Amino acid sequence: MCGIVAYLGDKDAYPILINGLRRLEYRGYDSSGVAMMDGGVLNIQKCQGKVSDLEAHVGSQGMKGTAGMGHTRWATHGPPNDINAHPHRSTSGDLALIHNGIIENYAAIKEELMHRGHTFKSDTDTEVLVHLIDDIQRSEGVDIAEAVRLALVSVVGAYAIVVMDRKEPDLLVAARKSSPLVIGIGDHGDHFVASDATPIVEHTKNVVYLEDGEIAVMDRVNGLKVRNIKNQVKTPFIQELEMHLEALEKGGYDHFMLKEIHEQPRSIRDSMRGRLNVTKGEVVLGGIKDHEQKLVNAKRILILGCGTSWHAGLVGEYLFEELARIPVEVEYASEFRYRNPIVGEDDVVIAISQSGETADTMAAIELAKSKGATIFGICNVVGSSIARVTGAGSYTHAGPEIGVASTKAFTAQVTVLTLMALMIGQRKGTINSSQFHRLIHELDSIPDKVQQVLLKEPQIQYIADIYKDAGNALYLGRGYSFPVALEGALKLKEISYIHAEGYPAAEMKHGPIALIDEAMPVFVIATKGASYEKVVSNIQEVKARKGKIIAIVTEGDQVVKGMADHVIEIPDTLDPFVPLLSVVPLQLISYHIAVMRGCNVDQPRNLAKSVTVE
Ligand code: M6R
Repeated sequence: MCGIVAYLGDKDAYPILINGLRRLEYRGYDSSGVAMMDGGVLNIQKCQGKVSDLEAHVGSQGMKGTAGMGHTRWATHGPPNDINAHPHRSTSGDLALIHNGIIENYAAIKEELMHRGHTFKSDTDTEVLVHLIDDIQRSEGVDIAEAVRLALVSVVGAYAIVVMDRKEPDLLVAARKSSPLVIGIGDHGDHFVASDATPIVEHTKNVVYLEDGEIAVMDRVNGLKVRNIKNQVKTPFIQELEMHLEALEKGGYDHFMLKEIHEQPRSIRDSMRGRLNVTKGEVVLGGIKDHEQKLVNAKRILILGCGTSWHAGLVGEYLFEELARIPVEVEYASEFRYRNPIVGEDDVVIAISQSGETADTMAAIELAKSKGATIFGICNVVGSSIARVTGAGSYTHAGPEIGVASTKAFTAQVTVLTLMALMIGQRKGTINSSQFHRLIHELDSIPDKVQQVLLKEPQIQYIADIYKDAGNALYLGRGYSFPVALEGALKLKEISYIHAEGYPAAEMKHGPIALIDEAMPVFVIATKGASYEKVVSNIQEVKARKGKIIAIVTEGDQVVKGMADHVIEIPDTLDPFVPLLSVVPLQLISYHIAVMRGCNVDQPRNLAKSVTVE
């Protein structure tokens, strides 16, 4: 959600912070701010708007100092404005704090502090925390690190914070609970703190991922010290980042989303690399190999996720049921966590998350774990909280996804689920040897086929131009294509703000058909395969009501071509792999419609890339 970056060292901090904020802006972009220590003065500058607005607000001379911190906000408590922007300052004026997360008991703490004479400027929960630390520091006579620890003992909620104290200018204090924080250790004794590694990678590859309940103190003299909220000393585990700087750049594309759509032949290949061996005729997923038997013997698989990851999970349901003959339930993590779900030791849970930080998914995992289920993670971000808490699982290896609308993460998640289903199916014997070889050969050809779909972009752009002013859109698919219909609708609504619904094609007649008139574009995935004839009938039903059909069809299809207003051809493939191809034109159509409507494609309104609050 919000983005945090901080620096302590011997370099000018301001350019490091601003550059870091630009890299983190995908996490939140309604306001931003910077605090810098400059000759005994704690200087805070902040304002509503983008990081570029903050730069304009600060002016071309920048800010001075070699220690500082920056924040980009996604509003929870209080609207996006200058006052609610972080950093927040304490009553004494000595402390500044930035925060990602939610302090759930902020109202009670605020009331208590008001009785003690504190006054508040903002509507945020964050400001309460900086006043609380300040109050404890003064009343207990403790240093800033201890005051932070004591304050966090009484806090309920999720937080990643960085605190600066004017009286202790040579240190930064950072802490986390349920919101990620990474510390970078530079070559010259300098330290970086950030919500994720993207602002750090250009400075150092040595990082420490803070664990829940840990507090880090970075000191110019004593380096990095970590302890936990119970005051136990912890030894920081330094690891090397695998991320590359060029993965964080647009690489000549107008938007990250477009770049990420075009990266899919490569990212799908990377998801299969070292796992699919066509010559040997095997699928091996290293991260779950040791627990393979658990999957093979699973009586039921539960898949948990949110948003696009949930859609990937739905594709997984079809894959596991068809190829491995295991019953699957796919749950919204946000619903699962607040039920009293029937789950136990015989259950296998697969949690899917691009960011690996989604609060609902994290909480659902904890719940399933507490009931004894075996948990596997499918995450994109290496070292993320979900990846670490699940222990076993597979990274998708799609590379950093910066565009808020998920694209290459979806196809990478589906690829990993496909590999899992194939692996289990082969081990269980639910797919025979010739089927298995046919399937893996076809899977191996998918990256090249995605490349062929991408060549359709000019035609897709032409179609986008025709429907860019639509007020509503319907997406229909059956079987493996139903989740793709949901995903297509989500892509359109989140970046172009056009209302869109995804439906199983046959469900249309049970209600949504009432919406169809000559102004309604209906995107139908009508590829050759198990439900082709049925979908053709559904297209007829739309046409009879004058709806406009944009159909994704298998190359060479003449039947749908004769009925649809537009067809986008994709290469022929086996049913289980259709989602990996058919989603691509839908991603592109959403992208081009959004661009034509003048929308901010990479940072759509109200959204954030990683949703670390409930
Ligand atoms: O990082 P996660 O995969 O856990 O995120 C889940 C959703 O928040 C995410 O997929 C969201 O729906 C995207 N904006 C979709 O494009």
